[in-house]
Amino acid sequence: MATSYILLAALLALVSWQAVASDPSPLQDFCVADKYSPVLVNGFVCKDPKIVSADDFFMAANLDKPRDTTNKVGSNVTLINAMKIPGLNTLGISIVRIDYAPLGENPPHTHPRATEILTVLEGALYVGFVTSNPENKLFTKKLEKGDVFVFPVGLIHFQFNPCPNKPAVAIAALSSQNPGTITIANAVFGSKPPISDDVLAKAFQVEKNTVKWLQAQFWEDNQN
Ligand SMILES: *[C@@H]1O[C@H](CO)[C@@H](O)[C@H](O)[C@H]1NC(C)=O
Repeated sequence: MATSYILLAALLALVSWQAVASDPSPLQDFCVADKYSPVLVNGFVCKDPKIVSADDFFMAANLDKPRDTTNKVGSNVTLINAMKIPGLNTLGISIVRIDYAPLGENPPHTHPRATEILTVLEGALYVGFVTSNPENKLFTKKLEKGDVFVFPVGLIHFQFNPCPNKPAVAIAALSSQNPGTITIANAVFGSKPPISDDVLAKAFQVEKNTVKWLQAQFWEDNQN
């Protein structure tokens, strides 16, 4: 009896570990993405290792250069994932540079597949994330240059540059070759086709006209 409980517990632990793990671990040194393969798998098919070169792990990404932040949210996210560096395939990691205009923000969003660790290179940021239901507890912090902050996988988070006359810059690493981004306002009010106003009016406890007004806005995608 005791043995079967232990076995069951071990099995459950294994199953739940697989469920909470982010990208699967590699089974070889590397599996450089072969973007031309017609085969569809989770991630990308491996390119023949004999023709892999250093360039498969490289990108002249100019991450030292400021980006244009003259958009509605005042931020610009440059994501380097496995689509941009094929060598990242199966390795469970990616990187972003984020530029913030004065008073600019990276609006509330989630990464369905990655935890994010961010450091401020220039300026300052007010950052935060919200835990899942039912607590929905908000964790926030004012970050200065050199500070580091973590956004746990899947949780809604944001960064705001509180300074009215200075831009800010951050670099972050994400624990997936393809973290994915769901920007809350864009997904809810800017979906194509739109979500029914019956659904959204009830969800947000507002009049349908308010929903229609929100749906008529241009929802900026600040990611490149
Ligand atoms: C981000 O900056 C780049 C380079 O400055 C620019 O080409 C791109 O349009 C900008 N993207 C957004 C969403 O503002």
